[in-house]
Amino acid sequence: MQAPLGSHSSPGVPVPPFLAACRREATAHTPVWLMRQAGRYQPEYRAIRKRLGFLELCKTPDAAAEVTVMAVAQLGVDAAIIFADILLVLEPLGVGLEFAKGDGPVIHRPVRTAADVDRLAPFDPAQLDFVYQAIRLARAGLPRDVPLIGFAAAPFTLASYLIEGSGSDGWVTTKTFLFGDPGAWRALMERLVPVLAGYLNAQIAAGAAAVQLFDSWVGCLSPADYRAHVMPHVRALIGSLTPGVPVIHFGTGTAGLLECMRAAGGDVIGLDWRVDLDAAWARLGAGVAVQGNLDPVALLAPIPEIRRRVAEILGQAAGRPGHVFNLGHGILPPTPVDHARALVDAVHELSARGTTG
Ligand code: CP3
Repeated sequence: MQAPLGSHSSPGVPVPPFLAACRREATAHTPVWLMRQAGRYQPEYRAIRKRLGFLELCKTPDAAAEVTVMAVAQLGVDAAIIFADILLVLEPLGVGLEFAKGDGPVIHRPVRTAADVDRLAPFDPAQLDFVYQAIRLARAGLPRDVPLIGFAAAPFTLASYLIEGSGSDGWVTTKTFLFGDPGAWRALMERLVPVLAGYLNAQIAAGAAAVQLFDSWVGCLSPADYRAHVMPHVRALIGSLTPGVPVIHFGTGTAGLLECMRAAGGDVIGLDWRVDLDAAWARLGAGVAVQGNLDPVALLAPIPEIRRRVAEILGQAAGRPGHVFNLGHGILPPTPVDHARALVDAVHELSARGTTG
């Protein structure tokens, strides 16, 4: 059988460090990439956004590919992530998605009842063809040894936007829906899982060599609610993804949920900065890789302080195979580009193995 497009598994070609780390194989240095590495902290991105609205940019494959590739060229990271958004899958479901200027995402017809779940429009992965086109273009523009990451929301985080209709602090409306009508919640999860699986598998077919599930807001749940109402659906989703493609399972505020997330699945567990990487890895066990976990605010500090914090995290990982360096959440808009670049350089320099000095 032919290897998948993004597999980087041609004979004689070394496995890129990012993919090797996902598989817990030894690497010459710790690979690093940054969540939201293409975004508003870059003057070039802000210039493109003067011409194109955010959704327009996502739907213009050559522009989306351009910002994806530009971030890699500017930072020297070990992986690219396709420029898109976790909420793009909501448009085909017919709920009315808008990115209002300065206010973040708005869903005009949020899901509040079992009948609303039934009314969601049928989904065909081809409706998001612009994402797969962007992936093909980005793949063609990237250096051969830089894998491209595809992504989607995990079912809980996608549902939380669908139900709230926007971002939220405590996700009270989402949890009220879940606690008040667990049957409707389950129906919603069972509706979203095939949508997300179809979308991610199409990204993989287009050239994504790994995928990340963003369960950004799942940390608002108790472990018992996670096990009962989230874990089976994440498990089903991961189980329906193309085999052999590493899955990064990321969440924030998940210190109480790490064992549950591990049980739900993923080759790599994404950690935020509220946990010590070594303690978290000990809880997860040696059979899984970890990604993280510098506080994004650290990039606003002077460069020597950034390097000190990088050394601290690398010290916790202690050179064990299976660490992908990243921030604990997305890069913040006020981050100076040269600080992001200094972070990548520090990770490469301070983790270099198999060299003298
Ligand atoms: O990581 C990358 O470089 C790839 C691009 C990417 C974006 N969003 C681009 C984006 C990724 C991986 C995402 C994921 C995403 N989107 C998440 C999960 C990660 C996280 O932050 O927890 C979430 C929750 C969203 C939903 C979303 N998109 C929100 C809440 C917002 C508004 C808040 C904000 O940061 O502005 C967006 C908009 C968005 N997505 C921007 C970018 C670069 C900013 C839009 C702009 O240019 O004005």
